[in-house]
Amino acid sequence: MSQGSFRTFSWLLLLAATACQTQESAPPASTTNAPLAAEMPMPAAPVGETAAATTGLAHVEPVQQVPQVPGEDEPLEALPTVEELADALEIELRPARVDLGRHLFHDTRLSKDLTVSCASCHDLRFGGADRSPKAVGIFCQVGPLNTPTVFNAALGIAQFWDGRAKDLASQASGPPQAAGEMGSNFAEITERMRQDAGAVAAFRRAFPGEVNSPNDITTERLLEAIATFEVTLLTPGSRFDRWLGGERDVLREQELRGYATFKQVGCAQCHYGPAVGGKTFQKLGQKKEFFSERHLSHADLGRYNVTKDERDRHSFKVPSLRNVELTAPYLHDGSVATLDEAVRVMGTYQLGIELSQQQVDDLVAFLRTLTGTWENRPLAAPMR
Ligand code: HEC
Ligand code: HEC
Repeated sequence: MSQGSFRTFSWLLLLAATACQTQESAPPASTTNAPLAAEMPMPAAPVGETAAATTGLAHVEPVQQVPQVPGEDEPLEALPTVEELADALEIELRPARVDLGRHLFHDTRLSKDLTVSCASCHDLRFGGADRSPKAVGIFCQVGPLNTPTVFNAALGIAQFWDGRAKDLASQASGPPQAAGEMGSNFAEITERMRQDAGAVAAFRRAFPGEVNSPNDITTERLLEAIATFEVTLLTPGSRFDRWLGGERDVLREQELRGYATFKQVGCAQCHYGPAVGGKTFQKLGQKKEFFSERHLSHADLGRYNVTKDERDRHSFKVPSLRNVELTAPYLHDGSVATLDEAVRVMGTYQLGIELSQQQVDDLVAFLRTLTGTWENRPLAAPMR
């Protein structure tokens, strides 16, 4: 088979994948957590707070000064280039390898029954996630966690909500073998590739001098190709980046106020750096117990499942906030339907403050400036 027919074959398989009828419906717009208790201890005082009579949570005064240009040391940084990132991760950026990785990412042969590809859950047209509260694998099985975006994932300190994979290649070995996701195994997958002349030719081009015969198609090379493709999933060109780069007038007053608020109330303590997150693990419920009133799942233990350290109980990798307007629903369990509500939840549980409607609106307006481009096209909002 030629490269062309390999491509056609993969696309046919992709089209053959049928949608599950049994997807969980979107959660209600508010979380199922307990109402805010009046006897809540007061959190550490943010600047200029006033007490809120009803919730016991502090209010933070609106920002007084809204800088119009970036300062010397902003907590948020522009994205690196794909080449810089590949260098930092010591990944060799061969175009033929990126191309192979891209095909594999869309190839349903990575799943037992040929219905699911990486892209089934990480749809690159719609923010790199799947728009459902929890991931849906083969046989319409609903998993324990919300699908994070693959865009900019290469910038994270580790992969997965609990960070159990150290890098992209080891992450990519997970889903194909996970019973609830793709349900296959690498002996089966590499065998399928070895039998397809088009795939063999693509591997040969991607690994010149290394792949000479079908048997040289190995799990390691397959994962390396996927990881190489994923390095290219950066989303530069957001309005916020343009502002950081010195362009004036790309952000509206409300968006600038939102960014000033983001720094003032403390969001940037956790969501910082080029990905606006992804750098540390943090407990969900820093300032107020998040899980007390609801049934706990194994996945809710977060990083504790990896380290068995009590301090890591309910800790999760801080998600990147780039393109966040496109990846609802939110949180590791997909329990929050809207960006407004996610911001409010962060105020309450991570900062111990009750944000005013104005502050929430400003923060959301700012977060929407973080939507970038991929392959020179703006990332699109999902079709509902
Ligand atoms: C059935 C849906 C599904 C499929 C198929 C799937 N993923 Fe995922 N992906 C998820 C979920 C859910 C998570 C989070 C799981 C966790 O944290 O334990 C995830 C996490 C990731 C992450 C980590 C992102 C981060 O910020 O930590 C990457 C990268 C990724 N997947 C890439 C892939 C690749 C590559 C494939 C194909 C080999 C794939 N996924 C197949 C649902 C899926
Ligand atoms: C103490 C650290 C910390 C602070 C402060 C913090 N966050 Fe978060 N944020 C997290 C963690 C951890 C998660 C993921 C929690 C989970 O999924 O269970 C998260 C999740 C989010 C999400 C959902 C992203 C997604 O893809 O699901 C948004 C939006 C968000 N934060 C915005 C904010 C805003 C806005 C602020 C300030 C009002 C803020 N955060 C303050 C740590 C923090």
